[in-house]
Amino acid sequence: MKVDLHSDAFLRHPGAGSRTLRDQAELVRMHLPILGPVWVTTTHAAAHQVLSDAVTYVRNPANAGGKPPEKVYWWVPRFVHPLFRNVTLMDGADHQRLRKLVTDAFSSRGIDAMRPRIEAIADDLLDRLPRDRPADLVAGFNRLLPMLAICELLGVPEADRARVSAWVEPVSRVRSPISFLRAAPGLYRMSRYFRADFEEVRRSRRPGLIRELVEVRDGADKLSDDELLAMVVAVFIGGFDTTTHLIGNALVTLLQAPELARSLQEDPRRITFFIEEVMRYHSPVMFTNMFHVTTPTELGGRRLDRGDRVVPLLIAANRDPARFDAAGDFVPDRKPNRHLGFGVGTHMCLGMQLARAEATVAITRFFARYPEARLARPVDKIPMLKRLGLRGVAELPVILQP
Ligand code: HEM
Repeated sequence: MKVDLHSDAFLRHPGAGSRTLRDQAELVRMHLPILGPVWVTTTHAAAHQVLSDAVTYVRNPANAGGKPPEKVYWWVPRFVHPLFRNVTLMDGADHQRLRKLVTDAFSSRGIDAMRPRIEAIADDLLDRLPRDRPADLVAGFNRLLPMLAICELLGVPEADRARVSAWVEPVSRVRSPISFLRAAPGLYRMSRYFRADFEEVRRSRRPGLIRELVEVRDGADKLSDDELLAMVVAVFIGGFDTTTHLIGNALVTLLQAPELARSLQEDPRRITFFIEEVMRYHSPVMFTNMFHVTTPTELGGRRLDRGDRVVPLLIAANRDPARFDAAGDFVPDRKPNRHLGFGVGTHMCLGMQLARAEATVAITRFFARYPEARLARPVDKIPMLKRLGLRGVAELPVILQP
């Protein structure tokens, strides 16, 4: 049976869909939007094997005997080419060097320092939600909080945040070359804005991650302007929609389980485990970027050749009964919980501490402010989002004060 990862059936019941895939093989052939025909892993073991072997599986197709990204994606406008020099498409020493430069800013210590600002942003957004009619949390809260948190992390001036957000929005809707072309003007304006902003930050020494990266460029270990821009854009694209859907999935879960919501408010230490279980069970990022095979190998009982393309399906890995007891149940206090929701290995998510902090703040502040909130519609009437590789709700109508 054919499984479409972006169909309503799969998005609503990923456990059943993942089982169907696993019953076929550990590695199945699929046609994914933009990526085309690829091998997709269906088990935790196979996904883990790909993600943790950076020698056999690489990101840049040129390192596996193929063409460089700008030739593979020949249809993207030329001004986008510098953005291909981003961490997600790099391998080996180049990749390590770039990651090392931002690791401190993304460490728990760096993120803890941001926490009061994230709380203030969350409180402000919650105050603005309408109370006389159902409020759509996706539009009014879940999307804005991660966007503003990234602006805060980078140090984007408050006056510029609305337009930067408007440029990023269409990028997250890309599902095909056509939709990419629709996003191109925003990407162009964003690139132009940040290139000018790097100069401005050099002059004003405005605080934030941009300044730290600019100073790296001006220090001994130089970052080129292209790399700097690619990093800023990667942080927006990696951290915006993803966290939106972690927050959305967490809120949908708690709005259906008021007892659980109350008990987490009473014992906030449990929130950490709850969020990891949302990451496992709902897997807001269903699959990672594509990997290219450098040398003939075996994966999930199948031989792969140099140049073959593999995608680890995180959502199936996270529902694999061979790895998790009661894999199909949502267990709020699950421990240990070695899900692959943030990936693993050299490309493991850089922003996971920020994502966890945002989700914690989001649910804590939401239920403190609106303890009586309830879904305005039954959950099966809430539309699922249809975006490449993501799993979450497209809208979340809620009655805040009955
Ligand atoms: C719930 C929220 C998030 C989820 C589920 C998530 C998931 C992931 C996953 C699965 C990867 C590995 C991708 C791969 O191997 O292809 C990744 C990488 C990455 N993430 Fe996240 N992410 C989240 C939030 C964030 C945030 C908030 C940021 C930054 C502000 C961020 C920045 C990045 C970057 C830059 C990478 C690339 C790392 C590399 O290639 O070395 N992510 N993320």
